[in-house]
Amino acid sequence: MRHLLDWLDIDDATWQACIDEALAFERDRSRDADRFLGRALGLVFFNDSLRTRVSMELAARELGANPVTVTPGSGTWGFAWDEGVAMTGGEAEHIKEAVGVLSRYCHGLGVRLFAGGTDRALDVSDARLKTFAAASTVPVLNLESAARHPCQALADASVLYRYFDGETVGRKFVLTWAWHPKALPMAVPNSTLLMASRLGMDVTVARPEGFELDDSVMEAARRQAAAHGATVTETTDMDAAMDGAQIVYAKAWGGNERYTDPEAEVARRNSHKDWCVTAERMAKTDIASFMHCLPVRRGVVVEDAVLDEGPSLHLDQAEFRLHAQKAILSMLWGAL
Ligand code: CP
Repeated sequence: MRHLLDWLDIDDATWQACIDEALAFERDRSRDADRFLGRALGLVFFNDSLRTRVSMELAARELGANPVTVTPGSGTWGFAWDEGVAMTGGEAEHIKEAVGVLSRYCHGLGVRLFAGGTDRALDVSDARLKTFAAASTVPVLNLESAARHPCQALADASVLYRYFDGETVGRKFVLTWAWHPKALPMAVPNSTLLMASRLGMDVTVARPEGFELDDSVMEAARRQAAAHGATVTETTDMDAAMDGAQIVYAKAWGGNERYTDPEAEVARRNSHKDWCVTAERMAKTDIASFMHCLPVRRGVVVEDAVLDEGPSLHLDQAEFRLHAQKAILSMLWGAL
């Protein structure tokens, strides 16, 4: 049985096969409409979603499977997570039984489970996601966890593969931090960096001091880039990063102080409100296309003109969630 919690667990040949399969579904959305007839897919959303929920339900249905969406906190029991806990509080059901039961009904489970934001070690290690997967007897698909967003990563990789006609190696990819009123989680920037480096792109991570990505993610990205003859560099100068960029991927994320000193994090973050992707900044690139996973705050993360006048791939990225997740279901259910 195979899960998809993190693409780092999956070999290069399978990763590439998933990109090829996503592109095949983009060319013919209605192909293999009965591939998974009679299967059930449980989708557990501990957090809000537009794209992931809709595209995942459609991906399952368009391949003949039945999706069932559960939103804990609105109509289910509250779940306890800790091992060996005496459940004297408000939670009526342990995650072990909840997932165990869903595994009896469904042939696969997707779960969205964001960072708790109070325990860095718990979040960086994706401990809750691993607890969920350990309780399952069917394949588990990460629909965005504390540390990874593999569905977004495959969709974005497929968009880039198509955009560059398969020639992604050596292209300059800028992943830039952007200001946001909230300290957002790390899943998307982590997965974006790992995705672009796996495509052999020369990645520049632009972010202010105090907003470094986790060392383990940076090291994994450098290893992947090196394996393709590419590089991963960092800068605190957003404008300098734009020089020669062919892709500019913006994302807001929380600073390193958010777990230990949240007030200092807010103060530091708010001193960088000028970190917005503007048309003026995009003009410094090599006619780069803009990317964002969405939802995006207009006038905060990016200027309207960048989205509206382009070039921008943000809606392609959203569309490819559908195609990519069909490919992922095919991998998890042994049809790839
Ligand atoms: N990009 C993404 O995962 O969108 P949702 O949060 O709307 O699912």
